[in-house]
Amino acid sequence: MTDPTSPDVQAARRRTFAIISHPDAGKTTLTEKFLLYAGAIQEAGAVKAQAGRRRATSDWMALEQQRGISISSTVLQFDYRDHVVNLLDTPGHRDFSEDTYRVLAAADAAIMVLDSARGVEPQTLKLFEVCRSRRLPVLTFLNKMDRPGLEPLALLDEVEQQIGLRPTPVTWPVGDPGSFRGVIDRRNGAFVRFTRTERGSTAAGETPLSAAEAADELGAPWARAADECALLDEVGAVVDRKSFLAGESTPVFVGSAITNFGVRHLLDAVIDLAPAPSAQLDATDQPRPLDAPCSGFVFKVQANMNPAHRDHVAFVRVCSGHFERGMTLVHQPSGKPFATKYASSVFGSERTTVDEAWPGDVIGLVNASGLRIGDSLYLEQPVTFPRIPAFPPELIASAYSKDVSRHKQFRRGLEQLEQEGVVQVLHRRNDPQPVLAAVGQMQFEVFAHRMANEFNAPVEMGSYSQRTVRLTDEATAEELRGYSVVQVLERGDGALLAMFESPYFMARMEADHPEWMLEPILTT
Ligand code: G4P
Repeated sequence: MTDPTSPDVQAARRRTFAIISHPDAGKTTLTEKFLLYAGAIQEAGAVKAQAGRRRATSDWMALEQQRGISISSTVLQFDYRDHVVNLLDTPGHRDFSEDTYRVLAAADAAIMVLDSARGVEPQTLKLFEVCRSRRLPVLTFLNKMDRPGLEPLALLDEVEQQIGLRPTPVTWPVGDPGSFRGVIDRRNGAFVRFTRTERGSTAAGETPLSAAEAADELGAPWARAADECALLDEVGAVVDRKSFLAGESTPVFVGSAITNFGVRHLLDAVIDLAPAPSAQLDATDQPRPLDAPCSGFVFKVQANMNPAHRDHVAFVRVCSGHFERGMTLVHQPSGKPFATKYASSVFGSERTTVDEAWPGDVIGLVNASGLRIGDSLYLEQPVTFPRIPAFPPELIASAYSKDVSRHKQFRRGLEQLEQEGVVQVLHRRNDPQPVLAAVGQMQFEVFAHRMANEFNAPVEMGSYSQRTVRLTDEATAEELRGYSVVQVLERGDGALLAMFESPYFMARMEADHPEWMLEPILTT
């Protein structure tokens, strides 16, 4: 008998993953279809309606609507095949790749969604690279097969060449791009016929046929797909769980989220192929056993998600033990107790109180203004999980309060948005005027919008400029201060950042002074 109160047993039932995609590739649609297949919603359309309500109730989410982008991440939990699935949403634009990176720190796997008509788009390549750099297992979904698109083999080539993951197709399309007939499941050679349903509001009609029946019914398109599968077999493009778990190969699924096609194969793969939560390594590379007392780390902080509750939510990934609401955890950086009276799960702006959680689950701790991204929390046995690395910013801009009498609001907003990681806030030595740094320009837009709307402190942004940034130390900073092509700025956490006017100057100095500290990745 398995003991349902054992963290090992509960962890084995869980799958915690994120979907990453470029905007419009179909992430929202796919998420919704997962909920439909899991029975968490009865009819497709609910998530969009939910998103509509969410946008209507939040000031800064209005910006998402204006720009047609998703900035905030949502965590969804649902049951499927006797498992608990935690789906972490990520923003779809490269300008927010740092946010994606933090979310991926809390995920055990990712699904990469590509629009099969567009392939790997340069603006989102960075998001996918982030995934690979974390060595996360990645499942790939080639979406929108119901429309004319690129040849599937060309798409595999893009995944291999541009992202550096070896694609291993599990399902393969039958029919020309634009006249999609269904998929071959390469694991058993069977064919599943594609039947168009009206916007896929209910589960797709899936008719399984044997290879012989499919060959009879489809003729040439079947023969072509079967030939392609034979070629794939020949080059060894078959699912290999070991290299998938090591983040080297990616099982590929094809389908059409809007018509639900291929959604079930993909969701089944989350259960069958993606890893369950396992012992998380701490900052000294020691594993925290799943059955150790409760512990977790903050991977996202968000304030004012809903103007009706001007509050501060810290999202925590549970790493070990059994979380029970009301328990008092220790906040590792301060050593102070943190009472978890208000723990919730967040679905858009809707909150549900969470009474318990297990490894792999995400809890939203409300009123958590003392918690920062990367902070660890634990019960009884201390643990420090590794900090989440920050990206080197690529852009800097100055920001001034438009109204000097709103100085206090300006400071408060600056502090809050820095804490959430919306932008990095830097200072030159002996200069109180902040310099904002970001990976992408849209971060500045979100900053300015939220300053005006949430903190009532409209800002004037100076012009943006590009920089090549390295983390440095005091000794190197002293040397660098003698040059005009580089500026040294200090971040709130005391880190010193060297900002070069061009990568050329940086490369020169690195080559001339190998003894200087100039590190590319900046830990928070
Ligand atoms: P995102 O979250 O990745 O940004 O993408 P989203 O799901 O919002 O999908 C973007 C657009 O692509 C939507 O159309 C959606 O209906 C469409 N789409 C998603 N999956 C498929 C698919 O498999 N096939 C086809 N043909 N289209 C797909 P829209 O016109 O922007 O919105 P809507 O009016 O359909 O809601």
